[in-house]
Amino acid sequence: MEIRAMTIEDYDEIFAMWQITTKRALSSADSRESIARYLERNRGMSQVAVDEGKIIGTVLAGHDGRRGFIHHMAVLPEYRRHHIGKKLATTAIEKITAEGIEKTHIFCYKDNLTGQKFWSDFGFEKREDIFDFSYDNVKNM
Ligand SMILES: CC(C)(COP(=O)(O)OP(=O)(O)OC[C@H]1O[C@@H](n2cnc3c(N)ncnc32)[C@H](O)[C@@H]1OP(=O)(O)O)[C@@H](O)C(=O)NCCC(=O)NCCS
Repeated sequence: MEIRAMTIEDYDEIFAMWQITTKRALSSADSRESIARYLERNRGMSQVAVDEGKIIGTVLAGHDGRRGFIHHMAVLPEYRRHHIGKKLATTAIEKITAEGIEKTHIFCYKDNLTGQKFWSDFGFEKREDIFDFSYDNVKNM
């Protein structure tokens, strides 16, 4: 198993993987064009885990100049609990830190207890003092 930088050539394989691991979190922001733009804006930061040529894990990592953000942290079910997720998250945070960013945020569904446990055990602090508000730019235009 190796961890390497994600490229847009991985798109079809990672999008197929996300149908299994991350379906509910997918949106128009995950189109090929959006992911290409994301990777271009955050060069070398997003990672894939590859085992015998097959992508088995992903993490999108980037920052906005102030704070780091991680999305689509996922490992295929049959490869879980072998610290592949931990290695992907560690690499993502190293890349974000190398850009001079001091803190990283993730979003996690309230009913995703595995995700919450993973991030808590990794060392993320669960915030009880913040709500996430979203605004639909297009619908509200
Ligand atoms: C969350 C996810 C990425 C974890 O990947 P993984 O490779 O299995 O995780 P790791 O093996 O690196 O786990 C690291 C540690 O996290 C915790 N952990 C991970 N999965 C856990 C589980 N199912 N139950 C309890 N603790 C868990 C443990 O502390 C684990 O260390 P340990 O195995 O030594 O006890 C994977 O379960 C997944 O893809 N889930 C679906 C997508 C998802 O929910 N992503 C998170 C979005 S917020």
